[in-house]
Amino acid sequence: MDKKPFEYAPAPESRALVSIKPQYGLFINGSWVEPLFKEKFATINPANEEVLSKISQAGKSDVDRAVKAARDAYTKTWSKMPAKERGKYLFRIARIMQERAREFAVLESLDNGKPIRESRDVDVPLAAAHFFYHAGWADKLDYAGLGNSPKPHGVVGQIIPWNFPVLMLAWKIAPALATGNTVVLKPAETTPLTALLFAEVCQQAELPAGVVNIITGDGVTGSTLVNHPGVDKIAFTGSTEVGKLIARSIAVTGKSATLELGGKAANIVFEDAAIDQAVEGIVNGIFFNQGHVCCAGSRLIIQENIHDEVLEKLKRRMALIRVGDPLDKNTDLGAINSAAQLAKIKELSTAGDAEGAFRWSPECELPKKGFWFAPTIFTGVTQSHRIAREEIFGPVLSILTFRTPQEAIEKANNTPYGLSAGIWSEKGSRILWASKELKAGVIWANTFNKFDPASPFGGYKESGWGREGGRHGLAAYLKGAK
Ligand code: NAI
Ligand code: MG
Repeated sequence: MDKKPFEYAPAPESRALVSIKPQYGLFINGSWVEPLFKEKFATINPANEEVLSKISQAGKSDVDRAVKAARDAYTKTWSKMPAKERGKYLFRIARIMQERAREFAVLESLDNGKPIRESRDVDVPLAAAHFFYHAGWADKLDYAGLGNSPKPHGVVGQIIPWNFPVLMLAWKIAPALATGNTVVLKPAETTPLTALLFAEVCQQAELPAGVVNIITGDGVTGSTLVNHPGVDKIAFTGSTEVGKLIARSIAVTGKSATLELGGKAANIVFEDAAIDQAVEGIVNGIFFNQGHVCCAGSRLIIQENIHDEVLEKLKRRMALIRVGDPLDKNTDLGAINSAAQLAKIKELSTAGDAEGAFRWSPECELPKKGFWFAPTIFTGVTQSHRIAREEIFGPVLSILTFRTPQEAIEKANNTPYGLSAGIWSEKGSRILWASKELKAGVIWANTFNKFDPASPFGGYKESGWGREGGRHGLAAYLKGAK
């Protein structure tokens, strides 16, 4: 194996860009309030286990207050405001997020463990782009082909995961506000800090009180929000397991829901693919954001006759992945988000060994403190292996092979999920054929993990219900719209 060409000097982004309070209350009705329920929990930096702040666990009475604030804001202010005015607030939020982009990026990397290169160049710019995009829609909903004067649901309860905290917040809040709904949002318990910074942005934008409420807490708080009778619609991103619980608990309540759940995407490399580009796409597909990505290309399916060549190039490329300090601008792979997620990745990887697949990682030194996992591939994987079926949600790639294009499609579709897929081929007709045959909501050809606010995102089967982004995403926040 090739040695690393040279060592890099450390290039850390300044932490002084952010000021983190020792503890946070809840953001309800436009101001910070102390929770009625006194319990607090810590959010840590997963790269070194340092406690960053103490966060409030919102209880039932806190959820009540937040839902009431959202309802009052909906009836008294937001639903009465001309759509053009609503749009102005969204534009203002988008601009403030851009102005405070470095602060958001550093805070995201500290709380989540993702490399600053990604939070700075992907998460935060895309979050701002979602607000800009939806700001433009606010006064044009009558022309979106979604029916005549489509109406908002009212109060929306939104629950987001820890893998893209501020980006998922934007995916949820921007379309909800643009369509005239008000919001109670609960960030994930390991990554609440950028949502709490966003509360400050709402204040700075002089958003009317109660239009956005941010409450923190774990799954118990999430479940209280889902089951609150004052909530008209639920938007959730997270595990399929919790998505199923939510679907069950809102059945026959009349609440509508969008559920963005897990995935086990196939990334298919055909024999005529441009191999070097495909290798870059494979690396981006599985190692972006430590593989904590619902649409990650976690099942690589390679045509048998090019398997050895792809594998050799992939290993050479993986040896160059820099693992370490998320705040270092040269880091490619940061920390695993939590001890619990690390345990899950280890458990599934051990199952891969036990079931007879072959594990390989490049030589790399992992930091002593914090939660870390080396970039890893498994070859010799068969469809019955757990690592081919279950979402690992970490930097672990399962590699399978195929002989005929038909076999590639059968393997790719052999999953309870259906969120995304990738195709690598130089042949246009093959790309069109394969994308028609693949049962996945998003299909990338000769690229991977490309996101855009104008493009709808969502899955089939156990990957969830509904779409976010684009015109389809607006429909989810409007009554009776298709
Ligand atoms: P999770 O689904 O428990 O957490 C996601 C969000 O849901 C968090 O805000 C959490 O507080 C909330 N939540 C938990 N239980 C709830 C309930 N009963 N009612 C309402 N809200 C609830 O996911 P977790 O435990 O953090 O991760 C477990 C696995 O889920 C991961 O290993 C990964 O495979 C998958 N996952 C998928 C995500 C995706 O983007 N599709 C995101 C996060 C996790
Ligand atoms: Mg944290």
